[in-house]
Amino acid sequence: MTMPDRAELDQIAEASIAAVRAPSIFNTQPWRWRLTGNHGELWADRDRQLARLDPGGRLLLLSCGAALHHATVALLAAGYAADVSRLPEPQRPDLVARVRRGPPCPPDDELYRAIYRRRTDRRPFGDERPAGAILAELRTAAGRHGVRLHVVRHDQLSAFTAAVAHAGAVEHDDAGMRGDVLAWTTRTRADRDGVPARSVPAATGRTVAPRDLALARPAALEPGPGSDRGTAYVVLAIAAEEPGDWLAAGEALSDVWLTLTARGLVASPISEVIEVEPARQALRRLLGGGTAPAIALRIGVPVADNGPAPATARRCATDIVGLP
Ligand SMILES: Cc1cc2nc3c(=O)[nH]c(=O)nc-3n(C[C@H](O)[C@H](O)[C@H](O)COP(=O)(O)O)c2cc1C
Repeated sequence: MTMPDRAELDQIAEASIAAVRAPSIFNTQPWRWRLTGNHGELWADRDRQLARLDPGGRLLLLSCGAALHHATVALLAAGYAADVSRLPEPQRPDLVARVRRGPPCPPDDELYRAIYRRRTDRRPFGDERPAGAILAELRTAAGRHGVRLHVVRHDQLSAFTAAVAHAGAVEHDDAGMRGDVLAWTTRTRADRDGVPARSVPAATGRTVAPRDLALARPAALEPGPGSDRGTAYVVLAIAAEEPGDWLAAGEALSDVWLTLTARGLVASPISEVIEVEPARQALRRLLGGGTAPAIALRIGVPVADNGPAPATARRCATDIVGLP
């Protein structure tokens, strides 16, 4: 019998700990790692799935994809490629991925450092538009995962804004959907998850109306002086709507977000447009070309006086990472 390589497993453990910082819908952190032999298994945690907003588990898979990509970024920073099998066992769909250490490669810690700086920034952004060269880089980042990044054009902005507003109104009028928001915006400090009031600014000054995350308590983040005029809106688009596509979209979301963070930009996702069917259809028409929207993102240049948005809590690695 060959003994598992302990150093290899230690590196997977470290990668799974870095992945704790990944963004997730309402900071639900809906995943678990199981370390076994010489590899890590990433499992979806269905107890953390949103019953009404995400009955099909798309947001959950997007979130797991972000965690998976964060883990591969950590391995790359340690000088190893990641060897990933995605959704490897069709009869066990909650086994999202098997991650092994791949061959050595030149270490690259640019995105790894961005893991600890990335935040969801819901405040109005600056006047200046993100540079075309950076948007092109983000397109490449999404393309690495087979996902298309569509930049909403000026002539599409009113249709995009209307789709987001429609989704917001539907969710506001649906008690079950409001219940999901309430559940994850009223978590206690000890829970170490959910969206805290200090991460939510009042819903003023934004070109595209933000999701109402202040249902149960007042928004406590100062919105700052941003005009939101330069904000770019992008939609990540997938070729099909199978679990593997949602997972890839989550990996692309992470890659795009870490890349823009490394370039000094800020962002926040807009997922209500994929949670409400008519809004999703409106985005699908906007994309054209037979692809489906997986998530939208607002991207901007930070306002100099604002300082970084506050970091949100994460559960203890010991609750998320199961050792052999
Ligand atoms: C799939 C997904 C969907 C999200 N949807 C929204 C959204 O619609 N509105 C929003 O303000 N934040 C959204 N977020 C951001 C999360 O709320 C955020 O990642 C989480 O609260 C952790 O905070 P952090 O990103 O600052 O670490 C989403 C994140 C993910 C991964």
